[in-house]
Amino acid sequence: VDEGHGVKGLSELKIKSLPELFIQPIEKRLDMSKVVPYESIPVIDMSNSDDPKVGEAICDAAEKWGFFQIINHGVPLSIIDDVKDATHRFFMLPPEEKKKYLFKNSPTKNVRLVTSFIPEVDTYLEWKDYLSCFYVSDDEANSYWPSVCRDQVLEYLKNSESLIKRLLEALIKRLDIPKLDDKNKAILMGSMRINLNYYPVCPNPELTVGVGGHSDVSTLTVLLQDETGGLYVRKLDSEDWVHVPPIKGSLTINIGDALQIMSNGLYKSIEHHVVANGNKNRISVPIFVNPRPSDVIGPLPQVINRGEKALYKQVLYSDYVKHFYRKSHNGKDTIDFAK
Ligand code: SIN
Ligand code: FE2
Repeated sequence: VDEGHGVKGLSELKIKSLPELFIQPIEKRLDMSKVVPYESIPVIDMSNSDDPKVGEAICDAAEKWGFFQIINHGVPLSIIDDVKDATHRFFMLPPEEKKKYLFKNSPTKNVRLVTSFIPEVDTYLEWKDYLSCFYVSDDEANSYWPSVCRDQVLEYLKNSESLIKRLLEALIKRLDIPKLDDKNKAILMGSMRINLNYYPVCPNPELTVGVGGHSDVSTLTVLLQDETGGLYVRKLDSEDWVHVPPIKGSLTINIGDALQIMSNGLYKSIEHHVVANGNKNRISVPIFVNPRPSDVIGPLPQVINRGEKALYKQVLYSDYVKHFYRKSHNGKDTIDFAK
C-alpha cells in the first residue's frame, strides 16, 4: 500500500484479486453462518428523553446488547449529511494532499491518516483507510485538520455533545450516580476522538475484513454509518452475530471498555466487525467519547459502595489504550488487562 493512495488507491486500480497482504486467516473473517437473521440491536426513540422509560431502555440496551441505535436524537440531519459529504471530500483528495496526514508527515500526532487498521502490528491488513483526529481545541483543529472537512467535522462534534451528555446521564443513573457533575464529566467524557472511515470496494470481500473483531476502548462510541451496511455485532454471551441495518438519520451507540470497567461489568463493551464489500464504497464516522489519557479508571466508587466486588483493577487510561494497540484485533482480550 503506497503512501497517500491508500487502500482506496488499490481499489481504484480495479485489480482482479486481493493482494496477499490483505488475505485474512479464516478465523479472523466473519463466519456468515453465525449471523442470525431477523434479529437486531434495539432502536430507541430519544425524542422524549425526559421520559424515564427512555432512560431505562438505554440502560437495558447497554446491559443486554452493549449496542443500540437511536432515532430523534437531536443531531440535525443536515449536520449529519454535511459530515458524510466532508468525509467523501477528504478521501477524494489527490494522494499528494492526503499524504500530508500520514503519521510520518503529519506535523501533529493528533491527526493521522492510516491505511488498514494498525499496519505496524497487524500481520494481515484490513481493507480500509481512515483519518483519525483527536480533539484538543478549535484552534488546534483549525491549524491542523484538513480544511476540506474540518468545519463540518467540528460542527458535528459540537452538535453531538448534548446528545452524549443525555446518554451518559441516563446510563449513570443506574449506577447510583444522580448527575453528570464536572468530576464525572471529566472521567466519562474528558476527551474525544473522531475518525473518518473509508472502506473501498474490494475485489475479494470474502477473503478479508473491513475491520476485524474488536471492542472499543472508549466510554461510549457514537457511530454514523452510511446506507451501505456491513457492521455486525456479537450477541452477548453467544457465538451469534447480528447485522446493524442502516436507518436514515439514526446513530449507533456502543458501550466501550472504559464504561464496562467503570460500571464494574454492568454495561457491556461488545465485539463488532465490519465486512468488506464487493460492490460499494462505505463510509462511517465514529466519535469515541473517552476518559482523558491521564485518568486512572476503575470500577466507580458508587458502584463498589453498593457492595459489589471490583471485577477490574485501576488502570491508567493511556496505558490501557497502548495495550489495545499492541494487541489489536484479539477480539476482547484487551479487557483482561484490567482484570
Ligand atoms: C469500527 O468499529 O471500527 C468501525 C465501525 C463501522 O465502520 O461501522
Ligand atoms: Fe469499533
